[in-house]
Amino acid sequence: MKRDRPFVTANFAITADGRISTRNATPADFSSPRDKRRLLEIRAACDAVLAGMKTIATDQMTMGLPADDLRAIREAKGMPAYPTRVLLSASGRIDPALRVFTRDFSPIIVFSTTRMPRRVREALAGKTTLHLHERAVDLAAMLRTLRREHAVKRLVCEGGPRVFRALLVADLIDELHLTISPRIFGGTKAPTLTGIAGDFLPRSTTLTLREMRVIDGECFLRYRIE
Ligand SMILES: NC(=O)c1ccc[n+]([C@@H]2O[C@H](COP(=O)([O-])OP(=O)(O)OC[C@H]3O[C@@H](n4cnc5c(N)ncnc54)[C@H](OP(=O)(O)O)[C@@H]3O)[C@@H](O)[C@H]2O)c1
Repeated sequence: MKRDRPFVTANFAITADGRISTRNATPADFSSPRDKRRLLEIRAACDAVLAGMKTIATDQMTMGLPADDLRAIREAKGMPAYPTRVLLSASGRIDPALRVFTRDFSPIIVFSTTRMPRRVREALAGKTTLHLHERAVDLAAMLRTLRREHAVKRLVCEGGPRVFRALLVADLIDELHLTISPRIFGGTKAPTLTGIAGDFLPRSTTLTLREMRVIDGECFLRYRIE
């Protein structure tokens, strides 16, 4: 059956006690250089990279591909050197001064709602393609738009947990890459893969382990979500 949306993979680093950040939602910088390289390898295999505005702001992301060899491989395959960047915000309260908007190496596509303040729309108009939905972003429609209008066949969701959870609940995640870092954070307020521990998902998700590698004490997992 022909897909009407991109294949969606997600990528997270988690601690041994299942936290993706500290309770202060500090930048996700606890994994190794090997994990950071793997993040770039996964990004390089995709047409586009998606993240929520909180992660983009907290981690000061540019969503680029700072690896000459990976860009060269993409270009040899006839792909653009950098993946397209996809930003998600319900409120539309986006700071146009964020680092991601200071680099123009690849298109930026923003999915938000008509709640986006006029000053933000004006500031982003020349730098991004805006898709504004009514009330809430329809995630399935967002993916169809990415496939049909922006030729995105493969998308990596780099979080954060609220974005991941929303996609998971809507059955829109196909694959999950997890790096288990040998750290323990503890606490009830440090977010897990699906946000602050508390609310159950509407139903549990079954994963099929497809790959497992252990490198220097870190465990790299790849699951398929059927
Ligand atoms: N360990 C890791 O691998 C990893 C990976 C990614 C992030 N993180 C960490 O995760 C933390 C942030 O996570 P988070 O869950 O708070 O934030 P997030 O998922 O990055 O972003 C949440 C924001 O994204 C927008 N959003 C989320 N779901 C949406 C939906 N269904 N429709 C429209 N917009 C939606 C909203 O933006 P508006 O508020 O503008 O409406 C929301 O406030 C940071 O500390 C970051 O470092 C860790």
